[in-house]
Amino acid sequence: MHSSLHSAAIAGAGALPVEVQVDLSLGLPGFHLVGLPDLACNDARVRVLTAIRNSGYQLPQKKITVNLAPGDLPKHGSGFDLAIALGVLGASGVLPPEQPPSALAVGELTLSGNVLPVRGVLPIALEARRLGFTTLIVPEDNACEGALVQGLRVHGARSLAEAAEVWCGTSSSRPAVPSASEATPSPLDLTEVRGQQTAKWALEIAAAGGHNALFIGPPGAGKTMLARRLPGLLPAMSFEEAVEATSIWSVAGRLKANAGLLTARPFRAPHHTISVAGLIGGGSPLRPGEISLAHRGVLFLDELPEFGRAALEALRQPLEDGEVSLVRARDRASMPARFMLLGAMNPCPCGHAADGVPGRCRCTLPAQESYRRRISGPILDRFDLHVEVRQLSSADLLASPEGESSAAVRARVERARGIQRERFRGLAGVYCNAQLGGRSLRRLCDATREATAKLGELIDGMKLSARAHDRILKLARTIADLQGAGPVTDEHVGEAAALRALDRPVAEAPPARESALVIARKVAARKSPGASPGEVPREGA
Ligand SMILES: Nc1ncnc2c1ncn2[C@@H]1O[C@H](COP(=O)(O)OP(=O)(O)O)[C@@H](O)[C@H]1O
Ligand SMILES: [Mg+2]
Repeated sequence: MHSSLHSAAIAGAGALPVEVQVDLSLGLPGFHLVGLPDLACNDARVRVLTAIRNSGYQLPQKKITVNLAPGDLPKHGSGFDLAIALGVLGASGVLPPEQPPSALAVGELTLSGNVLPVRGVLPIALEARRLGFTTLIVPEDNACEGALVQGLRVHGARSLAEAAEVWCGTSSSRPAVPSASEATPSPLDLTEVRGQQTAKWALEIAAAGGHNALFIGPPGAGKTMLARRLPGLLPAMSFEEAVEATSIWSVAGRLKANAGLLTARPFRAPHHTISVAGLIGGGSPLRPGEISLAHRGVLFLDELPEFGRAALEALRQPLEDGEVSLVRARDRASMPARFMLLGAMNPCPCGHAADGVPGRCRCTLPAQESYRRRISGPILDRFDLHVEVRQLSSADLLASPEGESSAAVRARVERARGIQRERFRGLAGVYCNAQLGGRSLRRLCDATREATAKLGELIDGMKLSARAHDRILKLARTIADLQGAGPVTDEHVGEAAALRALDRPVAEAPPARESALVIARKVAARKSPGASPGEVPREGA
């Protein structure tokens, strides 16, 4: 006696179909499960038989063999329980042998026969629809999540008996409907931040174009405060972006029961003691890391130099590609990780190197240098904006808070994003300027002849890398979009280059506004007196 039905396995942030084949034969009663199951999956042998018995079904004393095909795909977790149990019931003749070919089932069973929620139901539903299935049987708590996918009848089951009724077509339950997603506005408003006009302007540009930004300044100047107000400036996700982000959160097991689509962009701020696997993803089974949980949103790394060197360096490839490729033992997967990187740091260990007050900074030059070395050149190069946040003056501090609200800034950001959406129509998955690659950048960023000439001057005069060139052009494009979408002018290029203090020559930096980088270059220049500041090698590049 034989039956075969369909389930699905999680692979990366998506799902793959798995055929559950069940065979009952004469021989010593027993339960054999093959097809690369991991420990949790293999325990299905115990859960399924007990759940079947406790649900009131009688099983013949036979040898049960279950194969999860394809055999070379590792199967993780307990989500195959429900499909295996339905298959055993079908093969033993308890359920009618003709089962619907267009249904797919996932869910974990308890010993009493109840169905527990599983991870990844949204990507499973998307894959089921793609493959032409019409019915999906999932745990009750996951039903609203599955129902987000239109064109599929999604039934939530509380128990094996309920799932069996849906399977046989005798259930009177109606397909689930998706929950409405409610967007809760960020409670943190920009009006609470006094002064800091340049930093606020930089934050607006970063939000408008999805650019990476690094805030550098003394302790207590408001870096963390500013960064935490970024979500209030960002527009809600489009439907496609929301489906991508919600799928990742579903695979990570972070969605609440019966949740709707995520609409607000994720804002992730992991502590600096995070491991490499925690940041970029890993483990067995492979789980998304913070960079994937921040997909289509923001990853905020506060106290940037305190993060482990390996963790920071691991960000380099995903920052360029918008996804991360993970390989662990037999598992390999690529997870989306298209996020805005926001960093905050002090200019030196005591934090006062850039205050401009003689004697205030108590750090030795080697201490300053080793602090700076914690962030390599290639990582610094990936921040489009290097923003100096200065200590507030007493006038700013004591004045009553005023200035634009987050809502007013967000209106401009939304307008600029609308311009970008029009520009990138036809480019799948591209929503903002920061995402543009080399070729499409040149094609889509129309710039005046003067702007091109100014960029050329910058490249030759400051020996900029090709990446720096592209990032300055993208930043200039966003500044132009905030002003209404005309071509990029030399003024926009000048402003973009100034906001990327990394590429500002030391001589141009006024002493009171020196950035950590400018200071670092001076330190390095002092160590090798023959070299001019421009020749200080970029560390690690
Ligand atoms: N620009 C500012 N306007 C109003 N309050 C500020 C400002 N900067 C700092 N503060 C106050 O100081 C506290 C510490 O600021 P924080 O953002 O944590 O500083 P940093 O991250 O630069 O060390 C904030 O919680 C806030 O109360
Ligand atoms: Mg801080």
